[in-house]
Amino acid sequence: MANVVLEGVSKYFNGETPAVYDLDLEVEDGEFIVVVGPSGCGKTTTLRMLAGFETPTKGTLRIGGKVMNRIPPKDRNLAMVFQNYALFPHMTIEKNLAFGMKIRRNPRSSIKKEVEEIAGMLGISQLLGRKPGELSGGERQRVALGRALLRQPQVFLLDEPLSNLDAALRAQMRVELKRIHSQYPVTTIYVTHDQVEAMTMADRVALMNGGRLQQIAKPETLYEQPTNIFAASFVGTPKINLLPGKLRRESDGVQLNFLSLTKRLNGSLGEKLSQLPVTEVTVGFRPEDIRLAPQGVDGLHVVSATVELVEPLGSETNVVVRVMDQVITCKLPARTGLSTGDAIRLEFDIPQMKLFDNESTNRLN
Ligand SMILES: Nc1ncnc2c1ncn2[C@@H]1O[C@H](COP(=O)(O)OP(=O)(O)O)[C@@H](O)[C@H]1O
Ligand SMILES: [Mg+2]
Repeated sequence: MANVVLEGVSKYFNGETPAVYDLDLEVEDGEFIVVVGPSGCGKTTTLRMLAGFETPTKGTLRIGGKVMNRIPPKDRNLAMVFQNYALFPHMTIEKNLAFGMKIRRNPRSSIKKEVEEIAGMLGISQLLGRKPGELSGGERQRVALGRALLRQPQVFLLDEPLSNLDAALRAQMRVELKRIHSQYPVTTIYVTHDQVEAMTMADRVALMNGGRLQQIAKPETLYEQPTNIFAASFVGTPKINLLPGKLRRESDGVQLNFLSLTKRLNGSLGEKLSQLPVTEVTVGFRPEDIRLAPQGVDGLHVVSATVELVEPLGSETNVVVRVMDQVITCKLPARTGLSTGDAIRLEFDIPQMKLFDNESTNRLN
């Protein structure tokens, strides 16, 4: 096993727009990192550079401390699993599984034993005599994983390995992959565009956009302390509410106005903001940080709203409301009894507020 380090890695295919730009990433030995971001943000290119199928235009790749830029793929000792599983259609599952081990000249008896062991772990023992065409998508996926595991790589690279599976199977495989990783803690770099996969599977999430790393953090940190507007919007369903806000400097702090609310920002935040040239800001509240105001409460953080849409999800209710000229989504408890057109009052959980600079889009608080 080994750690993986990317230092200032850029990839230009052609022209001036890089597919990956100045990427710094350190993956610890045994860590499970999920690289996530929208389609086209450079995830696959990053993996392909690590695997040796693309050469970085700039920067250094290190695996286990060794510079890999010019090492051919077969000598990097990694295993890559793609979205389309690339099994050999004419070979049985058993032969497919054994393939990586054969080319490394393991003795035949040990190959058979290990194939059976891994097949048992992945729940595919009964499929060993079949060919890939006779398997479901989920079964084929497990074979591909098994084959990669049997190669005993120092690093595991997975590119959207679950995206061809249906929702139920995907949820099951998420759990299974994590279980396999805790059993065989191989350094893993897992690529997906799916924020749920990223949040549920990763030790740390590396969020990319437009070829650039936006943030690398534990899932809960990414959610609670997003570095910028993109990061805040990428994770969380329903999405974070982003509202226009204005800052007004006062002698002893800063006043924030959004919707019909006024909030004084004192202490270190007020001090910091009063030093900045910023006046226009974006105010973010996650849907669960807005609740129905208790009867009779007319606190500082209460606004009047009109219900536009009620979406009962069983255990909770997503409610879309209009407040002045803004549309806001809140996550309320089950059985709210609300319907479209109702006039309600909402309370904002101010300590959960996320404040962003409109120009840099970076978080200010
Ligand atoms: N072989 C290539 N030649 C030219 N452009 C490429 C090539 N591979 C990827 N790109 C471009 O690089 C960018 C990143 O692609 P990719 O790494 O596949 O993104 P992702 O996997 O995040 O969807 C995209 O704009 C894509 O069109
Ligand atoms: Mg891709």
